[in-house]
Order: sequence, then structure tokens, then C-alpha cells
Amino acid sequence: MKKIAIIDFGGQYTHLIARRIRNLAVYSEIFHPEEFEVTNEIVGIIFSGGPQSVNADDAYRININVEKIEIPILGICYGHQILASMLGGIIESGENKEYGFTTISCEPDSVLFAGLESKQSVWMSHGDHVSTLPETCRITASSASIKVASFESLDQKFFGVQFHPEVTHTTNGLKMLDKFISVCTEKRDWNPQNFKDTLIQQIRDEARGRKLVLLLSGGVDSLVALELCIKAVGNENVFSIHVDTGFMRKNESSTIMDHYKKLGFKNIKIINAEELYLHELKGVVEPEAKRLIIGKLFVDIANEELNRLEEKEVLMLVQGTIYPDTIESGSTDKAAKIKTHHNRVSEIEKLIEAGRIIEPIKELYKDEVRKLGEELGLPHKLVHRHPFPGPGLAIRVICSDIDFPTDDYLIDNDKLNEILAEFGLAGKILPIKSVGVQGDFRTYHHPAVVWFKDGIKPNWKVLKTAASKTINKVQSVNRIVFCNQPIDLKLEKLYLEKPVIDKLREVDAILRAETDHISEIWQMPVVSLPLFHNEKQAFVMRPVCSTDAMTASVFEMDFAEFERLSKLIQKIDGVGNLLYDVTTKPPGTIEWE
Ligand code: XMP
Repeated sequence: MKKIAIIDFGGQYTHLIARRIRNLAVYSEIFHPEEFEVTNEIVGIIFSGGPQSVNADDAYRININVEKIEIPILGICYGHQILASMLGGIIESGENKEYGFTTISCEPDSVLFAGLESKQSVWMSHGDHVSTLPETCRITASSASIKVASFESLDQKFFGVQFHPEVTHTTNGLKMLDKFISVCTEKRDWNPQNFKDTLIQQIRDEARGRKLVLLLSGGVDSLVALELCIKAVGNENVFSIHVDTGFMRKNESSTIMDHYKKLGFKNIKIINAEELYLHELKGVVEPEAKRLIIGKLFVDIANEELNRLEEKEVLMLVQGTIYPDTIESGSTDKAAKIKTHHNRVSEIEKLIEAGRIIEPIKELYKDEVRKLGEELGLPHKLVHRHPFPGPGLAIRVICSDIDFPTDDYLIDNDKLNEILAEFGLAGKILPIKSVGVQGDFRTYHHPAVVWFKDGIKPNWKVLKTAASKTINKVQSVNRIVFCNQPIDLKLEKLYLEKPVIDKLREVDAILRAETDHISEIWQMPVVSLPLFHNEKQAFVMRPVCSTDAMTASVFEMDFAEFERLSKLIQKIDGVGNLLYDVTTKPPGTIEWE
């Protein structure tokens, strides 16, 4: 298949470049610079960004002879610098660092900027810059602080951009990438739907008459993998195992099973492991401890089940691994390093060694898996379900084994209120902690609940600005939740017990039913807190907009609608206030634990 090769120099946006190219209907694949070889299928090459300096001794290089190569190359950021340097240009470090939005003036008669306005808003993030170009190239864009914001070779084969066309902040970035693709190929035929028959044939070839077994989580990836297997080798040759941990959402397991039963697919074994999970998690409150127990138990159950299968000596195991799981980007590690998949249990490891694993969708991104799922005839509702974490509702119940916190958590409460007052808000730091992310680090700090003062009309712009300012200035706070009234929440003991999970399941089901039609919501965790007001428990809804979970913005629900939802969940016995998480990612992760 014709493809554009993305060379990963360790930039954080490498996957984004690859996805953009695929969205422009050309297949793309990521390669490590030291493992890359030009093949006949490659019609274009893009050098990604990266954290290093081209002038450093240990900087990544790539073995391409630019004097001989016929394939067009586009360099982005670090890639722009290394390409310029390979062509004979000079790279300087220092003074002219630029981060964020920048305006460039570009040459409209150049390939990448043809047809665009001469001033373009772009996203820069660099320390070094190209100070001198070789005679074979010309400058095609400059910014106030750097001369060579972009260049092209006189034969229009090589292109460099100091900025990032792949991020949405570069207004016309997609058009620029589109122009580069036009130089590489006239044929645009990539779409995951067309891939369907190839994948089905591949499974058939790999299976060679053996039976297939698949661990079905119920997520879209494993559903699509299962559907491909059924189409490839027929119902009777596919087994699947679904472990119901008891932490699934309401009707989740049964919805999936009903769908497959309707299709006539009967070989699904559901293992009801709820009691076992609850037993192992009794009294455990630490998020990391919960995760470890849940992961290990899954491994044990899956191992046992695989061992029990009669054909275990000959079967092939199918996994729903997708492309980002196999290529770890954004690090200076080897790009092709395979991440350990959470269901790589010891039995599975043995199968991998024996070449008995099939990963049919390992070349696809999530949005492509969804398109393929639709092409396969899976119901829209199943294919577009929100992502759901492996440990399920267990990590959406914030547990506590104390009910009398010391007052330390309130140390910044005055400072919090000083900032909030500027916005007509008041609030209180909460005696629990949640996970956040700042830069490359995870944080584990307190959420704060905020409300508009008497007589002030709720307003999203004000709320968002206040939330971001508070988190930046108050060190012990990493998350802000909104309440539609002043509230004083008390900490109580709360453990992962069946009534607690059932209550969360109910609240989640109501909120999901009421918001399912909102397509802008990419995911919406509902979180159970060990916090009570008048003996009624508080819950949080966290509707976010995202494309890949790397970053997320807050879905801005109408305040009257939020009020309606708050009242709706209070019909459940023991359920009190609904809080609305208004924290972007970063600084708040999507999940709380
Ligand atoms: P965060 O919370 O880091 O989550 O913003 C990003 C995405 O990953 C999902 N997530 C998980 N998925 N096992 C999973 O399979 C996990 O332990 C896990 N933790 C978070 C999360 O739901 C979001 O889509």
C-alpha cells in the first residue's frame, strides 16, 4: 500500500501527524529514525518534531541521501532543522525561542502556502532555529523573531516548517499538509472501510484453520476485532471470553451479549467474577492498590479460562490492540517499542512466542476502528460508545477509610476564596484527593467545590477563567467542581462494596440516558465521592470533549439543564448533590483516580 512515512524524532505530536495524513486519505506509518529504510511503497516522508538540538552530539540522525532521494520530504520543527542541516544549512541555538501562537508572513507563490493569505497564524514551540539556508533552498515564510519559519528547495522536493501544521492551533495547518501530500501522490485511496476485506483475508491466512479465541472487554476495539474474526472464519470457529468484574455500567454486559445473540453468535462465555473482585478489594482505598488487585485478578481468571479450553494446544488468540498501543511515541526511546498490553497474561505470552497471536486492527487509530466497525455493520450505538477504563467503576468510586480529616487540607482555603471573589464565586477545598497532570508529571491534590454568590448568574466564561486561575495559583488544588448552591460536604468512610457500586451504577445510568444524544461529549465519567451533605452522598459528572484523551476541554452544559439533572438523580435514595467538574486536561486528568 502507498504510504507516507513519519519519522519519529521523539516529538509529542508524532501520532497527530500520522493521523492527520490518514484523515487526508493517504496511509501513514511511524518509523524510528535509526530503523528507517526507504521502500517502494513510500511516496513521501515527514520528519517529526523532537526535544533535542540538531547540534547536539547525541541528536537523532537519519540515514537518507538527500542528493539522491527522489521522494519528497517535509520537516516539522526539529525535522525542519535537521532537514535544513542535511541540505547544508546552519542551525543556531539560543535567543529566538518561541512558544505558542505566532504570525508568519508567507510567500503565496510557494507550494505549502499557495492560495492562502500572506499572514498566517501558526503554533510554534522551539529553541533552535535555522539561521542560514543552502543556495538550493529559499525562504517561504518568516516570523518577527525568525527568518526561516519555512523553506522549500528550488526543485520543490524538500519543505521545512518551523511551526506545527498538525495542531489545530495552526489555523490552516491541514491545508498545508494537504499541499505536501499533493506533491507526493495523486492517489488518495486510504480509508479504513476499504481495509475491511484485506483484514478479513489476513485473519483467514493467519488462522490457517485453527480456532480463534478473544478476550472481549466490550469496548469498541475488541468488538470490531471479534466481528472481523466472525466474518473471517465463521461463528463456529470463534470463542470469546468476557469477564464481568461487577464494575461494568448498568446493562453493559447484557447489551453486548444481546447484540451477539441476535447475530446468532453463541460462543461467548461470560465469567461472573463480581463476588471475587469485591472480596479481594474489601477495605482497599488506595487507587493504585485497587488497580493492581483488579489487574492481577483479571490475569488469573483469563489464565484459568485459557487453560480450560479443550483446543488450547492449537488455538489462536486474537487481541484488539490498536496502533497507539503498539507504537510508543513522544519519547526518545525507540519508537517501535511495544507497550505491555494489560491482558498479556503468561499464557498469552507463551502464545505470542509461539506466533499464535493475531492483532487484526493493530494498524488503526480509534476513529478508524469506529469507521471500520460501522462498515462491518455494527450498530452505531455500540461503535460510538464512550471509552470506558479497564478497571471500570472501581476507579470511579473515591474511597475513604477515615471520616475525621485533620484541617490541613484547608490551609489554602482563604487564598482560594480571595481568587474566587474576583469572579463572584465562593468555594471550599475538599478533604479528598484526585489525580491531575501538569507538564510531564502527575499530581495528587485536592479538588475544590465552587458556587456563584447570591444574585450572580452562572456564566461559563467566568467559571472557566476562575477555575484555571485558581488551579494555577493555589498549589494544593488541582481540580474545580461546580455546585449550583453553597455547600458544606462532610467526609465519611466509603469502600468498594456492592451497594456503593450499585448506587453509582444507577446515577451513571440516569445521567448517561439524559446526555447520550450529545455528540460533542466524548466521554463522561460519573464519580462517587465519600462526601455527604445532610447524610446524602455527592456525585460528580465530568463531561469532556476530546479526540484522543491526550487533552480535554469541558463540555459546557446549559446551567438550567444541569439543575434538572441534579434534581433527577436526587430521586435515588441517599443521593444528594450533583457536582460538575469544570477542569480542563491538563491540569485535571479525565478520570479522578
Ligand atoms: P486520564 O484519566 O489519564 O485518562 O485522562 C485518559 C483515558 O484513558 C482512560 N483510562 C483508562 N483506560 N485502564 C483503561 O483501560 C485504565 O486504568 C484507565 N485509566 C484511564 C480514561 O477513561 C480516558 O479515556
